[in-house]
Amino acid sequence: MSPTERLVVALDVPSASEALRLAEALKGRVGMLKIGLELFCAEGPAFVKSVQRFAPVFLDLKLHDIPTTVKRALETLLPLDPRLINIHAQGGPSMIQAAAEAVRAHRGRGGQTELLAVTVLTSLDREALAAYGLAMEPAELALNLATLSQRHGADGVVCSALEVTQLRQACGSGFSFLTPGIRPRGADSQDQARVVTPDQALRNGSTWLVVGRPITHAPDPAEAADRILADMALA
Ligand code: C5P
Repeated sequence: MSPTERLVVALDVPSASEALRLAEALKGRVGMLKIGLELFCAEGPAFVKSVQRFAPVFLDLKLHDIPTTVKRALETLLPLDPRLINIHAQGGPSMIQAAAEAVRAHRGRGGQTELLAVTVLTSLDREALAAYGLAMEPAELALNLATLSQRHGADGVVCSALEVTQLRQACGSGFSFLTPGIRPRGADSQDQARVVTPDQALRNGSTWLVVGRPITHAPDPAEAADRILADMALA
């Protein structure tokens, strides 16, 4: 895959007009555009089609419920044919399996979607896990959840680019890793606590890099994307 195919830009904006302005500016420079909860809740499912005129879509809704509810929600979303869609691995084995069944059935009908499972949110630290009664490091839980997700039919996971080497060793080359928390050298890390440069994330084994504010808040998003693509090419 080329750097362009591996770059996913997060359209973390509240309105269709802002999202489409970014999509237009980034056309041809990104492999995917990410629609998260904010934009999806504001603009609804029909808006996904508008973004797909510019690039394939990663629908980042992080579904987490009982298996039947997640499966039915996916069956409603999959006709949009996002390139990627995700669930929380913490929903457990049956939920992951139910989601994977829905995605496999969609692919059987000619759909392109791959299912990712979120391991551990980067907002959760050791203390937060302790509050759940889990005495372990987030990286250890991420490893458990990645192997669980793989066993129950997910196509890949969302994880920190700092953990991806270890997770890839455990899951092998046929599994995908999407990593947020990417910052070019010298960029403001904002609220991301543990950031990795684009080239290092690829060297660590990331399949796709999710980049938000370093591109979307740049005075010239296309130029910022080009700089990140150049960094990625170093790997
Ligand atoms: O602006 P920034 O590059 O930090 O955006 C990263 C994107 O990745 C955001 O859309 C954020 O919701 C998402 N994300 C994250 N950490 C996770 C999962 C998703 O930052 N663990």
